Amino acid sequence: MRSARAEIAVLPGDGIGPEVIREGEKVLAALGENGAAPWNLTRYPGGAEYYERTGREWEPEAEAATERADAILLGAVGKPGVSLPNGDIAGAALVLGLRTNLDLYANVRPCRLYPGVLHRVHASYQQIWRPELVDMILVRENTEDLYAPLHGRLSRAHETEVAVDTRLITRKGAERVVRRAFEIAQRRGKGAPEDQRLRLTCVDKSNVMEGCRFFRETYDRVSAEFPGVDRDYAYVDAFTQWLVRNPEHFDVVVAPNMMGDIITDLASVLQGGMGFAAGGNLGDRHAMFEPVHGSAPKYAGRDQVNPFATFFAIEMMLRYLGDRRGDGTFSAQADRLERAIAGILADGAARTYDQGGTARTSEVGDRVAAAVRGERR
Ligand code: IPM
Ligand code: MN
Repeated sequence: MRSARAEIAVLPGDGIGPEVIREGEKVLAALGENGAAPWNLTRYPGGAEYYERTGREWEPEAEAATERADAILLGAVGKPGVSLPNGDIAGAALVLGLRTNLDLYANVRPCRLYPGVLHRVHASYQQIWRPELVDMILVRENTEDLYAPLHGRLSRAHETEVAVDTRLITRKGAERVVRRAFEIAQRRGKGAPEDQRLRLTCVDKSNVMEGCRFFRETYDRVSAEFPGVDRDYAYVDAFTQWLVRNPEHFDVVVAPNMMGDIITDLASVLQGGMGFAAGGNLGDRHAMFEPVHGSAPKYAGRDQVNPFATFFAIEMMLRYLGDRRGDGTFSAQADRLERAIAGILADGAARTYDQGGTARTSEVGDRVAAAVRGERR
């Protein structure tokens, strides 16, 4: 039974996670003033710091809440030197665990450059790309590939000498993420900046790897269902240079998990850096939204980091909830939030250190919240 309000499970996590989530909650509260918020937020502790204190990554109630929730909002997890007995990062249950256990098979990472956002390359801050040339969505497979727990060490004579990771690509896994990516291209209906053609680029290394050949065959088979979307192919090595040289060519991109992990971090440079990169981890029944930047322990507690990735994650979450629930309130709120974000960015008045500025995390949150409020009039 679904309650009238959307239940959002919030997992602030570690490092800068709680700081950016606090700003996110501030902005959500501003959106929800005067009864305009059809959602309930509930926070649950968990992560590496929690593990250090308690010996558990999170509590069973938190895990159960993520299964019940309409959406999950995650800050970040991980603390250097804190790992589980099997060597995995402590807090993995909240990221990799949720991706697997809730079958969040598509990791959707928009890469769009907003006017007013700078590129940081070799320590200078400049505008390298015209905003209208960077507007793509990268879709990363999120449950298999080298992330499947098919790995181990073989020890000989008490010495561990061999490490093995097995790459798993299944028909089901490839098919569903490719279909989702085609649907995204079709639904967005915008096309690539260079020619407005709807295009799905399949990124792989099928000139070498069998799993990638299978992934590409699957892409070809599924593409028959989407005659309105152009096929496009790139080997991952060549893709990295095209991405940087000709971002305007790309509309939607789909890639297996590990390659998708790498190319989305690279793509974030085009959108102003990891401080702007948000991801939606989508399944058929569950969804989790997160800033992609990680826990960045070095910056924790300094009120210094860029909270925009979290705001974009919240925008994605509101759009998802609107679609899922067929409730236009959510998409109207997402539009309002996006306009507020775009306005603040265009002003260039709330730049954190990663943009060469001095704005505090909390100050950026205050400004975006004020912009959201101002729009109501
Ligand atoms: C990401 C992160 C994660 C990943 C880490 C934290 C396990 O890098 O979401 O891209 O590798 O998927
Ligand atoms: Mn990553």
